[in-house]
Amino acid sequence: MNFEAFVHRLLEWYPHNRRDLPWRNTQNPYIIWLSEIILQQTRVAQGLPYFEKYLQNYPNVEDLANAPAEEVMRLWQGLGYYSRARNLHQCAKEITEKFDGDFPGDYKGLLKLKGVGNYTAAAIASFAYGEKIAVVDGNVFRVLSRYFGISTDIASSSGKKEFESLANNLIPEDKPGEFNQAIMEFGALQCVPKNPDCEHCSLKTGCFAYKHKLVGDLPVKINK
Ligand code: ADE
Repeated sequence: MNFEAFVHRLLEWYPHNRRDLPWRNTQNPYIIWLSEIILQQTRVAQGLPYFEKYLQNYPNVEDLANAPAEEVMRLWQGLGYYSRARNLHQCAKEITEKFDGDFPGDYKGLLKLKGVGNYTAAAIASFAYGEKIAVVDGNVFRVLSRYFGISTDIASSSGKKEFESLANNLIPEDKPGEFNQAIMEFGALQCVPKNPDCEHCSLKTGCFAYKHKLVGDLPVKINK
């Protein structure tokens, strides 16, 4: 399989197409964490004003930790999945009280935080610390399944592991954060779920699904 061409073209595509989003111009783990919690199950356009509101009210993790719970919850109104806001506040308190305001410095440590799962820990570790650990979300499943022609069910745990392993084999040593941002952005803007514009895709050469007319059939998700 042509791993090198994929990585090379993806990293070439990214700087010409990336959206200039506020959490992309920082290596501050607090800002990255805040953005990733808000963006779980939420589109960028919907999450952006919430991100700005929280950051304005709570410029650092101690400010968030010391805020009244009702205020933290009130600012979340309209975004849904309210357990995220409760976890956000609890996590900020934990970091302030247990770690003196410093986020854990690697993937493993981040995973122990309240409300932080594999995806969020990988995002913070790679974007903030340059740790070589792949993010795997719906965008990543779609891009990899199409480009490499993988028809394993993305809803199965073995499928998830297969994609995670592939992404961790692809991620380059010198640019892990940029690779993660690039593959997510490519999935969000170019390799979209419905009717992607494959004719104008700079990765179509080498794409299994394009070559075999399987773009509409991948990824495979078997609903149980
Ligand atoms: N969705 C989840 N995380 C994101 C990020 N860092 N940039 C854009 N969209 C996202």
